[in-house]
Formats: sequence, C-alpha cells, structure tokens
Amino acid sequence: MSTSPDVRRETRPSSAVAIDVAAVRRDFPILSRQVHGRPLVYLDNAASSQKPRSVIEAERSLYEGYYANVHRGVHSLSMESTDAYEAGRVKAQAFLNAASTREIIFTRGTTEAINLVAATFGRSRVGAGDEVLVSGLEHHSNIVPWQMLCEEKGARLRSVPINDDGEVILEELERLLTPRTRILGMAHVSNALGTINPVAQIVEMAHARGVPVLLDGAQAAPHVAVDVQAMGCDFYAFSGHKIYGPSGIGVLYGKASLLEEMPPYQGGGDMILSVSFEKTTYNELPYKFEAGTPNIAGVVGLGAALDWVTGIGLDRIAAHEHALLEYGTARLLEIPGLRIIGTAREKAAVLSFVMDGVHPHDMGTVLDYEGVAVRTGHHCAQPVMERFGVPATTRASLAVYNTKQEIDVLVAGIEKAREMFA
Ligand code: ALA
Repeated sequence: MSTSPDVRRETRPSSAVAIDVAAVRRDFPILSRQVHGRPLVYLDNAASSQKPRSVIEAERSLYEGYYANVHRGVHSLSMESTDAYEAGRVKAQAFLNAASTREIIFTRGTTEAINLVAATFGRSRVGAGDEVLVSGLEHHSNIVPWQMLCEEKGARLRSVPINDDGEVILEELERLLTPRTRILGMAHVSNALGTINPVAQIVEMAHARGVPVLLDGAQAAPHVAVDVQAMGCDFYAFSGHKIYGPSGIGVLYGKASLLEEMPPYQGGGDMILSVSFEKTTYNELPYKFEAGTPNIAGVVGLGAALDWVTGIGLDRIAAHEHALLEYGTARLLEIPGLRIIGTAREKAAVLSFVMDGVHPHDMGTVLDYEGVAVRTGHHCAQPVMERFGVPATTRASLAVYNTKQEIDVLVAGIEKAREMFA
C-alpha cells in the first residue's frame, strides 16, 4: 500500500483582503433558518461549527457516486474511494504542514487522538513514579486519558497553573518540567476561555528538558494557521466538526520517528501486514494506527472542509474573528454586572462570561428565544471553572460567518435576561 505524494502548504491569501461575509454565509444553508421565529445567530462554534455546501456535497457525491470500502478492493469503486480517502490525508498533511502523509492518522476526533497517544506512547513511556504534565487550561479530553494512564502506572498527573487572565504561567511550567516528566499535554487554544498559548515557546521549553509535547489543537485549527514543523510539537490533534467538517473524524499528527516506535492502538483489519495464530506483523505508517474500516465519508468531508478553509485563508479568518472579538468584548463590557472570564492578551474569538444574578442556564435559555445559540455550563473544563470560582459560564464562540450585527443581537439578548432576572 503506498502513501500519497507529500505536498507542501499552499500560499494563503493575504489577511489584508477582507472577507466577504455575506458570500461566506451563503455557503452555509443552515444559517438561513429561524429559531423561535428569529433569524438564527449561531455562536456555539467552539462546540461544533456549521457546514458549508461543499462539505455536504462531498459526502453526498461519495455515497451517490463511488462509495466502497477502502484499501481492500481491486474493483473501480474501491479504488476511487481509496483515492478520495488518501487525498483527504494529503490535504490534512498540507494543512498542518506535516513532513509526510505517514504522520497523519485519522481518528474519530481530538479525544480519540489524545487517547491513542496516552494508550500507546504513554503506556510504553510512563512508569511508576513518573509524571505527566498538563496545563490548568485543559479540556477534560486532555486530562482524563492521562489521569487513567497515571492511575494504571502509578504515575503522577501534574498541572501548570494559570493566572487571573487565563494564561499559562510559564515560570510554573519551567518549575514543573522535572526529570520525571514523560510528556506535556497542552491546549493550543483554550475552549473555555479562548487563550492562545505561546506553543512554540512552550515546546522549546519542554524539549530543552527532553520532554515531548502533545498539542490539543481542537480549538486552534479552525481559527489560527497551524504549522507543526514550525511549532516543533511531537503530536498535534484536531477535530473535523469544529473546522466546518463532519463529526466523527479527526486527525492525529505525530512525528514519524515516534509513531514508528509506538505500539498499535487497536488491532484489526488494515493495521496488519500478515496475521497467523503465532504472530502478527503490523502495517506501515499511518495504517498501523487505523484498524477497521475507517470513516471514509468523514475523511472526504474533512478534505472538503480543509479546502474551504484554505480557500478563504486562515490569516483572513483570524483577522475577521479578531475584529469581532474586539467589538464583542467592548460591547459586553458596557453591560452592568457582566464579567468576562478569560482576558488573555492572545485570544481566539471566545467570549465567556458570567452575569450577577443570572444563572448561565437561564441566560442560555433567554438567548435561545432570541435565536442566539451559545453554550452554557463548564465547557468540559471543570478545573478552569474552579480556578475562576464559578460553576459555569455562558460562552459565545465566533466563527468566520459571524457578524457585528449578530453580536448586537447577542448583547440585546443579554440585556433582556438581565432585566428579567437580575
Ligand atoms: N469541546 C467542545 C466545547 O468546548 C464540545 O464546547
């Protein structure tokens, strides 16, 4: 089985050219629907983003035109499906600027990617008395797999504290990188607060101590340009469904030298070269880590999503979202009794807030009646909530298709909730 040819990242459009948001919105059929008789204002993009027509169409044309299992058939449909599946891998490789398609493993999402690394790299490298280090900003999916590993091995999970703005304290990171640290797991962008971590610097600090780094890129990949070689990380994970692609598909990037030495994750078809009752030999990278029939349509849809994002350009997306973040921050700060949680200097477009006298659940319900979709709760980041002394927040998370007018609708909805409850 051969891998597709490696490709380099394409030149991205300049961030100087503003995005035509009206045209972008026309690509997303769902954005024209109403909720409770109001135009939908979708601000729950950190949970999952909506899908452009090209993604929907890519999956539809696979199923209508050439669907079959991949890597298994000499018949035409199987070969066409295999080509489309492997083309998705080339797109993911180019998107991350990985050195080779051998370094791109498809998973169900970021969670499975991190579990894969914990169960393979972690199991073979972490022993009794060792330490696994994460940050105080992590989503549960970059805590619990490591905690399970540490419990199994008699190792210790430690966390780097964050400051009052929601930034990782780098002096503490330096102190907590010890000779016992076997891996550092770190969010590239925080899902609950939007903090963008200085990941290149963090990787450099960890590597200076010989500690490999896994970056959770679930909240970064849709919003900032990612270059795994420039960052120098050892592993990078992201999910399709947050980057305008399908759910149930994600990517794990790993340095080939590390992936080579890691044991397989799951056993089954496609991850083997030969099987007998005496001995199984494993397939080459990346197939060693892709047991069973994969999410073929997911990969095809993800490829279309990456094309869509690359076509607009992450620099332009980031510039647009940053302008919205600045506008939204200023507007929210005008509201009496509202406190923004997460005020890092480097932030992605996440507005997490609490309001005196209004429970986030009530806030979310009032906003829903205004057509505004936000997430309320602990955002699968309970240690972050604990750090700020709140049980939950309301979180508006923005995407390329959002507008200032939508932020005005959000602000009017918050004012309404304040009048009702506060
Ligand atoms: N991790 C997703 C979120 O932050 C589900 O909402």
